[in-house]
Amino acid sequence: MIPAMTFDMGEIPPSARYRILASLVTPRPIAWVSTHDLEGRLNTAPFSFFNVFGSQPPIVAFAPGNKDRQTPKDSARNIRETQEFVVHMVDEPLGEIMVATSATLPHGVDELAEHPLTTIPSTKISVPRIAEAPVALECTAHSTLEIGHNRLVIGQVHFVHVRDSLMDENGTLQEGYHPLGRMASPDWYTRTNAQFEIPRPD
Ligand SMILES: Cc1cc2nc3c(=O)[nH]c(=O)nc-3n(C[C@H](O)[C@H](O)[C@H](O)COP(=O)(O)O)c2cc1C
Repeated sequence: MIPAMTFDMGEIPPSARYRILASLVTPRPIAWVSTHDLEGRLNTAPFSFFNVFGSQPPIVAFAPGNKDRQTPKDSARNIRETQEFVVHMVDEPLGEIMVATSATLPHGVDELAEHPLTTIPSTKISVPRIAEAPVALECTAHSTLEIGHNRLVIGQVHFVHVRDSLMDENGTLQEGYHPLGRMASPDWYTRTNAQFEIPRPD
């Protein structure tokens, strides 16, 4: 028999469940999510409980938790109030700023404000996008699932903006797209510039 450790998710505290799952289910893509509140104040924060889940319609989902037991994180609150958000993908030059924007600041304080990035208007929604990000997905909220203490925000993607030259007009990826992957919590990441191909069977 090949030896293995087994963790019973029903028998260990939530912090250990998080540590185990977040360390093992990797690498995860990182959604760098911009929203604004009802007064138009911008908010940007990273979320690695995130992925794309379909294309008809195109949907993404990410899981913003609570600041404390009662208070949703600002991203979740803003989306509940405005129904709009932009998901940016993050590459290595943006990594440190992305992490800096995970700071817990009071509601209404823009985590991006002190960083040298450019926000430009989106096409459909009122939340601006970050011009330096390699990819920006303009989303409206589809629904939010609450499962225990988890919250899964599902968004429909309306416009995709890709840095020039990363993709051709048919949507075929070109050289040079290297989004960061999230590894073990709290501080580990991986590069994605060692990709290789495994052809599928016919
Ligand atoms: C790389 C990275 C990934 C993160 N992923 C998540 C996540 O999936 N869910 C979550 O609730 N917080 C996550 N966080 C923490 C949030 O970014 C942090 O709580 C942030 O302050 C939330 O901001 P907001 O209150 O403006 O929404 C992550 C932080 C980092 C650095």
